[in-house]
Amino acid sequence: MIVRIDGGRLWDAESGQLRETSVAFDDVTGEIVALGRGLSAEKVIELRGEAVFPGFIDMHVHLRDPGLTAKESLETGVQAAAAGGFTQVACMPNTKPPIDSPKLVADIVERAKAIGKTEVHPIACITQGQAGDELADFEALRAAGAVGFSDDGRGVQHGGRMREAFLRLKELGVPAIIHAEDETISGKGVLHPNAARRLGLLGIPIEAEAAMIARDVLLAEQTGAHLHVCHVSTEPSVAVIRWAKARGIRVTAEVTPHHLLLSETAIKRDDANWKVNPPLQSERDREACLEGFLDGTLDIIATDHAPHTPAEKAQSMATAPFGMVGLETAFGLLYTYLVLPGTVPLKRIIEGMTSRPARLFGLAGGSIRPGARADFAIVDLHAERTIDPALFYTKGRNTPFLDWRIAGVIKSTIRRGQVIYEAGEERLS
Ligand code: DOR
Repeated sequence: MIVRIDGGRLWDAESGQLRETSVAFDDVTGEIVALGRGLSAEKVIELRGEAVFPGFIDMHVHLRDPGLTAKESLETGVQAAAAGGFTQVACMPNTKPPIDSPKLVADIVERAKAIGKTEVHPIACITQGQAGDELADFEALRAAGAVGFSDDGRGVQHGGRMREAFLRLKELGVPAIIHAEDETISGKGVLHPNAARRLGLLGIPIEAEAAMIARDVLLAEQTGAHLHVCHVSTEPSVAVIRWAKARGIRVTAEVTPHHLLLSETAIKRDDANWKVNPPLQSERDREACLEGFLDGTLDIIATDHAPHTPAEKAQSMATAPFGMVGLETAFGLLYTYLVLPGTVPLKRIIEGMTSRPARLFGLAGGSIRPGARADFAIVDLHAERTIDPALFYTKGRNTPFLDWRIAGVIKSTIRRGQVIYEAGEERLS
C-alpha cells in the first residue's frame, strides 16, 4: 500500500532546511516512492507541522542481551531506541557471554527482526571473550552479520595483537571500533582528576585516552585499516585525530551528547549517575570536542547508551559501574542545548545522526529521497518535556540529565514503512 505523510516539514539534507511538503512510501517494499505535493496514496498520515527527519542511526549502544537483562533486554533496548527516533542501532559485544561467536551475532539479528522495531547491527568482539588476547574469528562473525569489531568497555592493551587485528580487518573491509584507554595509565580511576580530588576518589589521567588513540592511528596508517574511535572526550584526543586525518589516515570518530554538554565541573557529589567511561572531562576538553564535531574531526554522534540497574547505580562512584543511558534523550538534548542557542547548526546534528553514520558503516538509510528506505523520525520541535527517568522505555534510569527541560519531542518513528513507535505507547518489558 502507498502511504503519504502530509502536513509535515521534511528534512532537506542539502540545504539543511525543513520544507513543507509530502512524502509517499510503499509499506510493502519499505521504500520511499516520491517527494512533493499531489502524490496519490491509499492511506494518509496527517501531521501538524512536525519535522520529518531520516530515521536516526546510533552506532554505539549497549543492549545487555544476552546475559545482563536485568540492565536491559533486546526488547526494551529497541523500544527505547525507537522512542528516541532511532531506526538503526549498533550494539556493543560486552554482554554475558560476550558476542564473539557467529551464533550469538545471528541470534541478535534474528531476534531484533522478530521484535520488529529498531534494526540492530551487532558489533562483535576483537578478542575472544573480550579477554584481550586471542583474536576472534572476524570472517565468520562478519558473515553472520557483524558490522564492525570492538572490545568496547575496555581497550585492547596489547599493541601487537591490535596490529594483527588491523591487518585482518583491512582485508575484510570492516572497521576496528576502539574504546581507547590505556589501563596502565587509567588504573583504578573513576573520574576526571579534578572531580576525583573534590570527592576524595581516584582520578583517570586524561592522557589514558589519547595515548591509545595515538598508538592506533599509527597502526591504522601502516596497515591501511579503518579505525573508528568511540566516545572521544579530551582535547589531546581531538588533536591526535585531527592530525591523523590531515595526514590521510583512515580514521573516523564519534562523540556523545554527554561529552558535548557536560563537564566534570557539574559533578557536585558522589552520585554514580554521573559516572561514565571515558569520564566527563574539563570544560576545555568539552569545548575541544564541540570544536572537533563542528569541523568534522569527530564525525558522528553516538549515545553510548549504557543502562545499569538502579541498585548498581545506588553505590558510591568508587564501585558503581560506568555508564549513562542516552537513547531517549539524545535528540532533545542536542536540539535544545546546542541547536537552539546557535552553538551547532541543526544540519550538523542531523548529519551526525543520519547520513554520516550510514556512510561510514555502509548502512542503508540516513536520507530522505525516492528509492531510499522509508525510515523517519517524526519530531515536534515546539513541544517540550522534562526528563523523567520513570517514563523511560529503557530499563536504565541512570541519567545525569534528570529534570532537564528539552524541546523536540519524538512523536513517532517509522522504519521501512512501518510505525515502530508512537508517543505514549505501552512499555515492552
Ligand atoms: O560508561 C561506559 N559504560 N563506558 C564503557 O565503555 C562501557 C559502558 C558499559 O558497558 O556500561
